[in-house]
Amino acid sequence: MEIKIQNLSKKYKSIKALDNINLTISTPAMIGLVGPNGAGKSTLMKILVGQLLATEGNVIIDGGSLNKREKYLKERLGYLPQDFGLYEELRVEEYLDYIASLKAIKENRKEEIKRVLEMTNLKEMRRLKIKTLSGGQKQRVGIAQAMLNNPELLIVDEPTVGLDPEERIKFRNLFSEDSIDKIVILSTHIIEDVESICNLIIVINKGRILFTGEPSALVKKAIGHVGSIEIENNHKDKFLEREAQGEFKITSTVITPNGTKYRVVSKNLSSSFEEIVPSLEDAYIYCMLEEDEYALT
Ligand SMILES: Nc1ncnc2c1ncn2[C@@H]1O[C@H](COP(=O)(O)OP(=O)(O)OP(=O)(O)O)[C@@H](O)[C@H]1O
Ligand SMILES: [Mg+2]
Repeated sequence: MEIKIQNLSKKYKSIKALDNINLTISTPAMIGLVGPNGAGKSTLMKILVGQLLATEGNVIIDGGSLNKREKYLKERLGYLPQDFGLYEELRVEEYLDYIASLKAIKENRKEEIKRVLEMTNLKEMRRLKIKTLSGGQKQRVGIAQAMLNNPELLIVDEPTVGLDPEERIKFRNLFSEDSIDKIVILSTHIIEDVESICNLIIVINKGRILFTGEPSALVKKAIGHVGSIEIENNHKDKFLEREAQGEFKITSTVITPNGTKYRVVSKNLSSSFEEIVPSLEDAYIYCMLEEDEYALT
């Protein structure tokens, strides 16, 4: 599958949620879509699944325009919206059966439901009403419905929200294994999710793409911009003042016997810091600092 996003913009009245997005994605891809609240992640996903119309631009799927390929997309898509309403009175199994019917799954429907129930660890809860499930269990029902029919294109909007660490790791791996012959697009605020499974990271802010590439390439850009320093207590206020003035951004604060050890990200790292190897999270913060510059490249 190939998805071409061309000059895509979306306006909600006066708010420009997406601003001239250009991107080509093809199978296989495991994509992490990251960006702050309000960056435009959900808007982009909603356009890709045909739930929302763009104000300008096109999305081409396998050579055809998205708005003319409703059936084509429906047969190949699994989608987990960020705020999905579940039919609270239905039992898990009934709900999945309902979604399967919407997806026009006729053959092996029972087996398919059984498969996703097992995959999401919900087999024992299949007869429970959705309203009796915990938040994380409901999230798993949402993931289960997205995975019905083994879609070629899986778009999941913050799928790991509310999952306990073990389940989060399990789902991360599930998405990753799944992406061998698919396009998986996953939005998240948890950089660790991206670090452990994604081969492509897309950083978006204010409706614009700031970076597209391998996570290691993002990290590479931040080399020389991440440092650590230990500050004695009586110099702390002065140090924090420097952050307030925008010299750097503190990403970690650890109290030590002598004062406080800070980890910072900075456009121009002063030589008073000990330079350290950036993590993907540092690199993401750096990308936000460098926003204007990134947007131009
Ligand atoms: N239905 C809507 N009507 C008006 N404005 C909207 C609507 N949906 C989103 N927006 C605005 O569009 C921008 C992008 O929102 P979007 O939901 O795509 O962000 P997001 O990256 O998914 O954020 P989050 O991380 O909080 O989920 C925001 O400024 C938001 O206020
Ligand atoms: Mg969102």
